[in-house]
Amino acid sequence: MSKAKITINKNYAISKIDDRIYGSFIEHLGRAVYGGIYQPDHKSADKNGFRTDVIELVKELNIPLIRYPGGNFVSGYNWEDGVGPVENRPKRKELAWGCVEPNTFGTNEFALWAKKVNADVMMAVNLGTKGPDDAKNLVEYCNCPSGTYLSDLRIKHGVKEPHNIKLWCLGNEMDGQWQIGHKTAYEYGRVACEAAKLMKWTDPSIELVACGSSGYGMNTFASWDSEVLDETYDLVDYISMHQYYGKNKMSTPAFLAQTLDMEEYIKRTVAICDYVGAKKKSRKKINISFDEWNVWEMADAHDELLRQIYTFESAVLVGSMLISLIRHSDRVKVACQAQLVNVIAPILTNNDTLIKQTIFYPYLHASLFGRGTALQTLVECDKYECPEYTDVPYIDSIAVENNSGVTVFAVNRSNEEVTLELKSENYKCANNPAHTAMYETDNFAVNTFDTPLNIQPKNITGIINENNIIKTKLNPVSWNVIQF
Ligand code: AHR
Repeated sequence: MSKAKITINKNYAISKIDDRIYGSFIEHLGRAVYGGIYQPDHKSADKNGFRTDVIELVKELNIPLIRYPGGNFVSGYNWEDGVGPVENRPKRKELAWGCVEPNTFGTNEFALWAKKVNADVMMAVNLGTKGPDDAKNLVEYCNCPSGTYLSDLRIKHGVKEPHNIKLWCLGNEMDGQWQIGHKTAYEYGRVACEAAKLMKWTDPSIELVACGSSGYGMNTFASWDSEVLDETYDLVDYISMHQYYGKNKMSTPAFLAQTLDMEEYIKRTVAICDYVGAKKKSRKKINISFDEWNVWEMADAHDELLRQIYTFESAVLVGSMLISLIRHSDRVKVACQAQLVNVIAPILTNNDTLIKQTIFYPYLHASLFGRGTALQTLVECDKYECPEYTDVPYIDSIAVENNSGVTVFAVNRSNEEVTLELKSENYKCANNPAHTAMYETDNFAVNTFDTPLNIQPKNITGIINENNIIKTKLNPVSWNVIQF
């Protein structure tokens, strides 16, 4: 048995959290769109062909923002193929994932679907096979009210009101050799700069995200990001970060320690943004859009593209990744869990029904209770060593304050039960603090269509408030939400 102390204090505020860090992502990939959010022959389909069972579950997550349409897909996408009368839309060979894109679902359908789930759209433009002209055309089509060729075309397509999409990605993972239209940092920086210019001239109210590195492991990390910002600094608002963590035969404590790497990746990307800002003697700050993050077992081969069954321990790592995003909410202003339905996703559908995967729950908790002001936690706890990481704190935690009170999110990465004392220096703790947790005896337990409720959060009884110190226990390998 190990012991830990967490101290919170309202003066340890990090930042007001931007709600958009609880964003998500839908790509034309696998069964995310077709057979996921859109399935006209499904028993729950509405008149638009949207699965209402999926809509209900997405609404439960209270997602503020959803990135679309890719991902690698966007780098070969003609958005014009996906608008106008469905019978006239072409089927195309889709090169990013090696499929055929039927184009029966496109920009207007997605914007309508996003409205139904109460989310804003984060739209990506194709800077792989296309360029500035195409990007500004999509802004005009989506955002201009009327009176221009493309805004009138949208109206002709049955969409009178502009979509008013405020956040745009300048391409996707352009540093990756796998990307359609991959570029060097300078080539991409120039195209992104020219696209940004035309897009902002078309709608000055939009915000833009330049492609940063597509992972901390990229050997061009840092030089790519700083070169891209050299070319785009004055025109863009965010630089993107992407990161997926897999198991790679690691032990559970090592698997869960991977957020130490995420911490370093965020700090270094912030440092690069500020370095370029300093070189330019700019007062402007570039913030971070962490627009792809999740656990992804790339080695797991399935008959279906990127279909992933999440284990219990994946949920705990997802919780720890959410804690990192909140901890850096002073600079991470947008983040998208990748992805939302069927493709490395918290929601899994089949032709009949749907389930919540293990990772659904920490995302739900953070989205519901993680809004407000982030507070640094002072943690005293044991540390462990594993071959991949040294000095790993047993406990990873963060606190969030809002009108309903204070929520502490905490992960116990270790295999030991931890007795926790939670001291709040200048908050009065209610007499009935609440503790919800995810813990299991089997770290590899999963939810399936046959056992959809196998893994769920549980209430922890025995939490007490003793003279304003909350006492409870954190189970080995667990995700915890403590509220007072
Ligand atoms: O989210 C799955 C894929 O991962 C995305 O298409 C791509 O951007 C990333 O490599």
